[in-house]
Amino acid sequence: MGKKIVIITGSPRAKGNSNSLAAAFASGAIAQGNEVEFYDTTKAKLGGFGGEECKADREKLDSLMRWADVMVLVSPLYWKGFSAQIKLAIDGFAKYLSIEGKNELSVTEAALIATGKSPDGFSFYPMVEEYKHIVEMLGLENKFTLICPCLNGVGDVEKHPFLIETAVKYGMEI
Ligand SMILES: Cc1cc2nc3c(=O)[nH]c(=O)nc-3n(C[C@H](O)[C@H](O)[C@H](O)COP(=O)(O)O)c2cc1C
Repeated sequence: MGKKIVIITGSPRAKGNSNSLAAAFASGAIAQGNEVEFYDTTKAKLGGFGGEECKADREKLDSLMRWADVMVLVSPLYWKGFSAQIKLAIDGFAKYLSIEGKNELSVTEAALIATGKSPDGFSFYPMVEEYKHIVEMLGLENKFTLICPCLNGVGDVEKHPFLIETAVKYGMEI
């Protein structure tokens, strides 16, 4: 049976590298009969933990986290970490650390897709460490981390077909 997947994106560039990889991943997942929903944190007004936010925007994310089996975090590398917009979504996941909160979470698996300008994978280390911590604290299973260096301008990812192919493949195998 197909899985339910929520893809949470963190780039304000609609046609940017991370959103292209998110779409590639989704195409592979859908081709295999999985259900996919996107949540664009850059279009939402989220307040992190306890901050002022749009209730409807948080409730939409909460409902997807109650619906999905898999959460895919997709973010550009900003200052070696997640973008501020996706971080606000993640900080709100602190509620899932309590026993009552855990009952509100149907997600059991997670994955990470990250894009950055740097040519080396080491620059992604802080973000990957944070991701691993999130996965561990929420008791999730890591499915994959797709780290994509050498991407800066919109469309750069098109020059790296291997990355697109890998994202599609990971979608098909999820
Ligand atoms: C505020 C900001 C901070 C950034 N910090 C880093 C960084 O620390 N390391 C890096 O390799 N790239 C950094 N970049 C470059 C982006 O990660 C890169 O352009 C990425 O491909 C953007 O993803 P997008 O195309 O999905 O928007 C930064 C870009 C911005 C705007």
